[in-house]
Amino acid sequence: MCGIIGYIGEENASERIIYGLSRLEYRGYDSAGIAIIDNCKLIRFRSKGRLENLKKKLEHESLKGTIGIGHTRWATHGKPSEENAHPHMDCTGKITIIHNGIIENYFELKEELKKHHHKFASETDTEIFAHLIEENIGKGFEKAVFSALKQIRGTYGMVILYSGEPDKIIAARQGSPLVIGVGKGENYIASDVPSFLKYTRKAMFLEDGDAAVITKTDVQIYNGGKKVTRQARDIKWTSEQAEKSGFPHFMIKEISEEAQAFEDTIIGRIEGSSVKLENVDDKKLKKIKNIRIIACGTSYHAAYTAKYLMEKYAGINTSVDVASEIRYGDPVIDKSTLLITVSQSGETIDTIEAFKNIQKRAGYSIAIVNVVGSTLSRMLDSVIYTHAGPEIGVAATKTFISQLAVLYLLSLHLGSIHGKINDKKMKSSLSSLRKIPGLLKIMLKDKSKVKKIAEKYSKQRDFLYYGRNINFPMALEGALKLKEISYIHAEGYAAGEMKHGPIALVDDKTPNVFLAPENALYEKIISNIQEIKARSGTIIAITNRSNKTMKRFADDIIYMPDIDEDFYPLLAAIPLQLLAYYIGVKKGIDVDKPRNLAKSVTVE
Ligand code: M6R
Repeated sequence: MCGIIGYIGEENASERIIYGLSRLEYRGYDSAGIAIIDNCKLIRFRSKGRLENLKKKLEHESLKGTIGIGHTRWATHGKPSEENAHPHMDCTGKITIIHNGIIENYFELKEELKKHHHKFASETDTEIFAHLIEENIGKGFEKAVFSALKQIRGTYGMVILYSGEPDKIIAARQGSPLVIGVGKGENYIASDVPSFLKYTRKAMFLEDGDAAVITKTDVQIYNGGKKVTRQARDIKWTSEQAEKSGFPHFMIKEISEEAQAFEDTIIGRIEGSSVKLENVDDKKLKKIKNIRIIACGTSYHAAYTAKYLMEKYAGINTSVDVASEIRYGDPVIDKSTLLITVSQSGETIDTIEAFKNIQKRAGYSIAIVNVVGSTLSRMLDSVIYTHAGPEIGVAATKTFISQLAVLYLLSLHLGSIHGKINDKKMKSSLSSLRKIPGLLKIMLKDKSKVKKIAEKYSKQRDFLYYGRNINFPMALEGALKLKEISYIHAEGYAAGEMKHGPIALVDDKTPNVFLAPENALYEKIISNIQEIKARSGTIIAITNRSNKTMKRFADDIIYMPDIDEDFYPLLAAIPLQLLAYYIGVKKGIDVDKPRNLAKSVTVE
């Protein structure tokens, strides 16, 4: 997500930090900040917008400190603004922190701290951590940080300074990467290697649960109260490779981040056997009788998946519209309608204009967006953020899985509010959702099978994708991804539609990709597969690991871990994206910037 850099040594810290932040700009951010200890005094500067704004502020300052931290923020809690930019401080102005990730229980902790007369200057979850340290700073910097760490839940990569002990930086990692750059008489701590690669190629990667005390000549790492050692490795990457954390493309890096993106999106939103969605008005949700979801491209496919979920879990009639169509249509919408827009960027012109066209007639509206403070996040009654972090590859990958995460949660929540889902089903569904990050990690561990299949079929001219019910939108998404990234013509169909036209295309050349986990409609999909086989067609099947019968029908099989049948779309996203990616790479296409496409479509 955001960018972190800390420096301790003999050189001018602000220069090293600004350079480090400039190497992290590729990640995307909406504000930047820096804090330096100069002569035992903590000095902080922050700016909204580009790093250039922060540099301008520093132009007339002569910062001399040799210890400091800097941050580029991608907003998650609170709009992009100077007040919400990191570093954040405690009440005394002696403790300061930068943080990537989400402190799940920040709200409860903030309320508690307010009772102890703590005053807060931002809307962020991060700021509470500086105040938690302040509570115990009398016991010393390290003890205070360690005791504050025990009180928080969530994900973090955090770096802290205390002007009372200006000879050290403390860092802690849980779920959000941190790496120490080990230099001679100086050390760095950062979210990514490129920020210090110019100065040292020795990197020590922290692991989850690690807390590090870093001085200019020493690094001590603790985990679970015990001292641990982490090997310093020589980084051989070029600067450009380092920006991609060693991955050859942003697209594959972002696919590899999907387990984390999913986890960050559901974190703090499941409480026992209920869903807790910040900013959402449950009274208004209770009154709605029908739902219309508006989106474009991949976001439309996430929305389409939600139609099945909302009708199944909440029993509410749900329709999904391509924004560019509904924009000029005359849809039936009234005060009993919940309007939902789904958009990664929050800036897609068709979605914005479509919403403007109908918003006044609806009863309630919710935006599902990734970019905090974007146009759509401000236009609708409520906003639910997907916490995928910045996505640089043009193809939507990790943001798609995060949109699905929110839509599953919202569907279950609606089911509960409308009394359509019983406690047992709710519990088992939430437990399935919690398992998803672990299962995604399993799927991402070994990509070789999909790669092999991709290479086998990379020369084909056309592909067909099929699915039924909740897996049908995944067929649409699989085909879209392939078109975008490999320039191969592909179509997605509801498998039941096969005999109504696409079967005419069956030949021994066109691969047919089937989303075919063993579910209530498995026998039907097997019939479709057999009809293609009978006509010498080729089948690539995506099914569940314990499926024993698919071997008889498919030419190639990609297995997913077994899970409740409603949740397979979340797992199937990975092989569909990987298939497109590896075919694109094999064809020598610039998969991060495919021709004619833009990341954010802001013109009609
Ligand atoms: O930012 P949005 O989610 O509103 O963007 C919608 C589409 O433009 C986007 O999903 C597009 O289809 C991507 N290139 C898909 O990979």
